[in-house]
Amino acid sequence: MRDYGVRDVLKLASNENPVGPSPRAVAALADLGAQAHQYPDSQAVALRTALADRHGVSAEQIVIGSGSVECIDLVARAFLRPGDEAIVGFPSFPRFQIACQVVGCGAVVVPHQDWRFDLDGMTAAVSDSTRVVFVDNPCNPVGTHIGPDKLAAFLDRIPPEVLVVLDEAYHEFVPTELLLPDEIERIKNGHNLVVLRTFSKAHGLAGLRIGYAIARPETARAMNRVREAFNAGVYAQAGALAAIDDDDHVRDVIALVSTERDWLAGELARLGFSTIPSETNFLFTQLGPRAGELNQGLLERGIIVRPMVAPGIETWARISIPDRVGGQRLITALEELVA
Ligand SMILES: Cc1ncc(COP(=O)(O)O)c(C=O)c1O
Repeated sequence: MRDYGVRDVLKLASNENPVGPSPRAVAALADLGAQAHQYPDSQAVALRTALADRHGVSAEQIVIGSGSVECIDLVARAFLRPGDEAIVGFPSFPRFQIACQVVGCGAVVVPHQDWRFDLDGMTAAVSDSTRVVFVDNPCNPVGTHIGPDKLAAFLDRIPPEVLVVLDEAYHEFVPTELLLPDEIERIKNGHNLVVLRTFSKAHGLAGLRIGYAIARPETARAMNRVREAFNAGVYAQAGALAAIDDDDHVRDVIALVSTERDWLAGELARLGFSTIPSETNFLFTQLGPRAGELNQGLLERGIIVRPMVAPGIETWARISIPDRVGGQRLITALEELVA
């Protein structure tokens, strides 16, 4: 708004929820101002207990983060040291590599094949120095998802002393039949696996900053030891607690995203922009050689998408799925720019 003098901004760069926050969360926040002088519950007992019930684990297996992104840092700080290695795919969530760099750990980068994690390549990259493998499933920025059979085979092949982090920020958008049914059961059975979830996407609470990890008790303890005690504020805990069971809202969000994703992919294709089939609330979109110019034109029209900057993907952009009004505005802007 400041840079381009625009007023009505359409923000499609952070994969926010096109419907809005869970109404139950909004209601729960209404009267919290009077508690602002008190620190939040450092153990987030009510929230952890509710999450544990929902996932069929014990509360000691839940770690609360200021967004799930903090849980990535907690893993790195708890388990990675200089000289260790972590394995990441490319392109995937950049925070994995940043978290490694901060603690002086090397990241072994395994490029995707056909825009999907090269699970054989990642398995082959495991060495004596490997401590952690980071996988976001579905994968940001490409939107592809590893199906249950491939994921199970991959998890079975990673040596038990290596911690696998499955970052599932977009989990709710994946059709049930594509999910690995026994994922949480594996953690309960002692597999060296951490699953990350967030309230930022399907629940629409990105502004509250709250996510969590599900892990073995000993893993959760180590993560909690390096966690800042009051990392999840009063509003964040209350909003998440109210949104946990708001299945109607999540269902509405998933339905809208699914319809609008198909429509937007079709419209983009009509304009000559191909997209990668996505199981998320965003589309990885090939803008072609004019990507920089198109992005600039969109910015001047108040539309923010996420242009890719990493070598090899500079002509792509990640576009969050808006509602139809926003989608129509994006397509109209692109039509003008293409013409
Ligand atoms: C793969 C992935 N993980 C984690 C996050 C972080 O989400 P939050 O910290 O809001 O929970 C994002 C956000 O875009 C993401 O795409």
